[in-house]
Amino acid sequence: MRKVIIDTDPGQDDALAMMTAFGAKKDLNVLGITCVAGNVPLDLTSVNALKICELSGVFSVPVFRGCPAPLKRKLITAEHVHGKTGLDGTDLLVKKKELEPTDAVDFIIECTEKYRDEKITICALGPLTNIAKVLKQDTVLTDSIEEIVLMGGGFFEGGNITPAAEFNIYVDPEAAKIVLESGLKITMLPLDVTHKTLVQRNFLEKLRKSGKNSAIQAAKLLDFFERYDVEKYGSQGGPLHDPNVIVYLLNPEIYYGKLVNVEVEVNSELTRGMTVVDWWNVTDRPPNAYYINEVKENEFFETVLNNILSLEI
Ligand code: BDR
Ligand code: CA
Repeated sequence: MRKVIIDTDPGQDDALAMMTAFGAKKDLNVLGITCVAGNVPLDLTSVNALKICELSGVFSVPVFRGCPAPLKRKLITAEHVHGKTGLDGTDLLVKKKELEPTDAVDFIIECTEKYRDEKITICALGPLTNIAKVLKQDTVLTDSIEEIVLMGGGFFEGGNITPAAEFNIYVDPEAAKIVLESGLKITMLPLDVTHKTLVQRNFLEKLRKSGKNSAIQAAKLLDFFERYDVEKYGSQGGPLHDPNVIVYLLNPEIYYGKLVNVEVEVNSELTRGMTVVDWWNVTDRPPNAYYINEVKENEFFETVLNNILSLEI
């Protein structure tokens, strides 16, 4: 049973990642959800996390507010993709669940102390601001962090928010640099792989026909979410980014990648947030990330579907 913290900026695809993790009760012990500003401002991402917990029938997992803005820059959001609320496509409400009083960064640091013998995995689904802040504190026990598995970056596919940069890295490139230079075990699920998990029509149908509220709402979230990318790329379905982090933990054997050096551009205005991947090992820069670029997409959708359908409500 792997102990995980999900750091997130929901976002419809973040929502499906959370639901997949909640459904995987035998494999993942979700210690907490830590929210960060990204797709929409922090006030919305944190309430959205509560909404997804309630939608999934999950009341025991604590939700924390983290950083409202990137380390050094003004926040850039993505309402053009996710809608005004970040969860457009549904009108979910929060009835019972409340945010914890502790700050997300403090919670993660406390977990590194509490689980020093068992270790924790951080699943990062948004800009890396909270995680970089954690790593900057003297009190963090980095030995307790088994791995950081993150959705971010792109190399072969280029960017999605600028021609060069993927959204999560672009929003807070300084934070991404801190994480990539931390020396911790890092696995990256970039656009190069998430653009291969395009929402399949039969996957949506199965969610809709399940008769379960959580699955039906998940399909509604995706209907809204994918319209932007379907138009942009002219594809049959939109890329389901963030659930790749969770599916990677559950089924690593369906992914392929390489241990390579990845650096982040923080200075250039033109290529800010670009992830420069030494895929062909043409420099002597040391490898710092397991960079994934292939997935068996049918198995991916099967795992997301089975776990969402195993939610109680
Ligand atoms: C990433 O940016 C957000 O829009 C998604 O939630 C995902 O984490 C994809 O670039
Ligand atoms: Ca996200």
